[in-house]
Amino acid sequence: MVQTKTELLSTEIKHLDIKKYNFADMIDSMGDTAFQARNLSRAAQIFDMMLKDKQCGVILCLAGSLISAGLKQVILDMLENNMIDAIVSTGANIVDQDFFEGLGFKHYKGNPFLEDTKLQELAIDRIYDTLIDEDQLRICDDTICEIADGMQPRPYSSREFIHIMGKYLQDHGKDKNSIVLRAYEKNIPIFVPAFSDCSAGFGLVMHQVKNPEKHVSIDSVKDFRELTQLKIAAKETGLLMIGGGVPKNFAQDVVVAAELLGEDAPLHKYAIQVTVADERDGALSGSTLREACSWGKVSVVHEQMVFCEATIALPMIAGYAYSKGSWKQRAEREYNNLFATTETVA
Ligand SMILES: NC(=O)c1ccc[n+]([C@@H]2O[C@H](COP(=O)([O-])OP(=O)(O)OC[C@H]3O[C@@H](n4cnc5c(N)ncnc54)[C@H](O)[C@@H]3O)[C@@H](O)[C@H]2O)c1
Repeated sequence: MVQTKTELLSTEIKHLDIKKYNFADMIDSMGDTAFQARNLSRAAQIFDMMLKDKQCGVILCLAGSLISAGLKQVILDMLENNMIDAIVSTGANIVDQDFFEGLGFKHYKGNPFLEDTKLQELAIDRIYDTLIDEDQLRICDDTICEIADGMQPRPYSSREFIHIMGKYLQDHGKDKNSIVLRAYEKNIPIFVPAFSDCSAGFGLVMHQVKNPEKHVSIDSVKDFRELTQLKIAAKETGLLMIGGGVPKNFAQDVVVAAELLGEDAPLHKYAIQVTVADERDGALSGSTLREACSWGKVSVVHEQMVFCEATIALPMIAGYAYSKGSWKQRAEREYNNLFATTETVA
């Protein structure tokens, strides 16, 4: 049976709410089992240790397609309950998925066996078993262009640009349950080191072509400098890394950058990575945190790799820490205050 676009885009992805469940007992018990269950249990306990540690700033790294997969509320709950102090992410999660939903658009349940040529004819994009209306994604590209058109032409860090996207959602957003908006309200910095590799890139290409002489650009070195500044100010840090890719390396490298600046920045004290990549190809995404220790980035005392798909592992790790309640004693860091505010509006 041939389905119409409306039929295909009829069942929304619903975001999982960790607050409804008590994860603690089961995950503690998994520590007495084996394989990735034991690893996940230890990772959850390390995350709780980060939250108990009053000196520790927590950086969440995101790769993969997590928001479209129903993990937005998990991340929002962590932001709202002071479990996360900074985010380093791919653009897809922050722009194409979270900001996109902030504009009022949705992700829909599909399946991996749909006919992709048919989907292309209907302007439907597929992420494994999830569907997106490409016409709506184009509106997201256009909105980024519109935001850039209204800004003073100069280079910005992705953090600055995303902060302005948060202001845009506060003024014009249709779904206030947004990571970009909540981070804006709570002064939590979001860095997207490869900012052009997503809907933001399409919007900024349109903006720059329209304004060839004077335009907004993204200064990725400024991103790295700002995140290094954050590390120097925070001193003790813990990483909760979901997936690998650019965010993993970027967040780890700030220790080395701080050292090169002559600052006494300690190794990341805690580190967790959830990934399905393994270490055999020598690439960054599957490299172990012990390997990162050899590069002078991560301490080996409280580190844990979890070889598991993120839609399973992240709700369990975040849910465990939420159930344990150590976050109740944590102070807000508001790391955005570390960075000078400069004129942004044209
Ligand atoms: N994913 C998308 O749908 C999408 C859409 C538009 C743009 N992009 C851009 O493509 C670039 C790379 O994107 P990416 O992060 O999706 O892919 P990636 O392949 O770079 O992911 C990095 C690593 O993270 C791990 N990983 C990813 N998803 C995981 C999961 N669910 N569970 C466990 N481990 C997981 C994998 O091991 C992978 O090797 C980014 O710049 C992003 O903005 C991606």
